[in-house]
Amino acid sequence: MATNSKPRVLVTREVFTDVIDYLSQHFDVTSNQSDNLFTPATLTPALADKTGAVIAITDRIDADVLAKSPHLKAVCNIAVGYNNIDVPACSARKVMVTNTPGVLDETTADLTWSLILATARRVTEAEAWLRRGEWDGWKLKQFLGVDVHGATLGIIGMGRIGQAVARRARGFDMNILYYNRRRLDENTERKYAATYAPMDELLARADIVTLHIPYSPETHHLIGEAQLARMKPTALLINVARGGVVDDVALIKTLEANRIAGAGLDVFEGEPKLNAGFLKLKNVVLTPHIGSSSEATRRKMVLTAAQNLVAALTIGRPPNWVNPW
Ligand code: GLV
Repeated sequence: MATNSKPRVLVTREVFTDVIDYLSQHFDVTSNQSDNLFTPATLTPALADKTGAVIAITDRIDADVLAKSPHLKAVCNIAVGYNNIDVPACSARKVMVTNTPGVLDETTADLTWSLILATARRVTEAEAWLRRGEWDGWKLKQFLGVDVHGATLGIIGMGRIGQAVARRARGFDMNILYYNRRRLDENTERKYAATYAPMDELLARADIVTLHIPYSPETHHLIGEAQLARMKPTALLINVARGGVVDDVALIKTLEANRIAGAGLDVFEGEPKLNAGFLKLKNVVLTPHIGSSSEATRRKMVLTAAQNLVAALTIGRPPNWVNPW
C-alpha cells in the first residue's frame, strides 16, 4: 500500500469544491463539506494530527487548542479580521497566521451602503408592514426617513474598507469626516474629500456614523453609552465591523429611548445569538454577518486562504502573513 506523505490539513467549514481540489494537489485534506460547526471540544482532536488548517471566524484558535496540536504550522483564516485567533499564542508556538485582506473591501462597502440606505429610509420596516397587509393607501407622513444625500458621514476606521465606503459617499454629495488611529496623509484626505476629526467631534457632528475597525481589547465597546450620548438624536449608527466594538446593551437602551434615530447592524456581540432587545426595535436593520457575502468575494476569500496555506507549508512565507518572524 502506498503511503501518503502529503501534509495533513483541515478545512473547517464548507467551501467551494474547486478549493478542496486545489488543496488536494498539495495536501491530504480533511474537509467538512457537511458544514458541522466545530466546537473547542471537536476542533482539538480534529487538529491533533494536522500541519495546517483553513479556518473561519467561527473557529476559536487559542492556547489550549494549540497546546494539543503539536504538528500545526499554519492557520489560514477566511476573513480579514482574525480576533478568533490568539495570535501571540500562535507566534509563541511558531504557528503562522494568515488573513484575506484586500479581496473583500468593495463588497463590504456595498453592504455598508445597503445598511445606510435601508436604515435611513426605513426599508425593512416598511416592507414588513406592507407584507403584513397593513398598507391601506398613500399618506404624506408615511415612513418618513432621513436624507442620505448631502448628509455628514462619520467614518471610524479609515482603512481599505472605510476608504471604499468614502468613495461611494461622494456620489451622494456627502460631507465626510473620519477618525483613524493614524491620520491619513493630505493627498489621501483630498482624494476622498475627507476631513479628520477626533472621535468625540465626529460623533457629535455626523448624521451617519459607520464603523470599520478591527475588534481587539483596545476597541472593545469603543462605542458605549457615553459615545452614543454624544450622537445627534437624528443620527444613525452602522456596524459591519465586529460585534463587541459596540456595547449592544447600551445601543438597545439608546434606541429604545429614541436618543438616536436608528442603527444598521451586520455584527453582534455573542452572534449568532443576538440580544433579543434588537428584535423588538423598529428602528434597526439587522443582517446576519453577510458583509463580504457576494459569491465572487467569498470565492476570492477562500481561495486566498487556501493559497496562503500552500505558501505557508511549501515555502514558509504566506502572502498574507499576520505574525511574521
Ligand atoms: C469578516 O467578517 C471578515 O473579517 O472578513
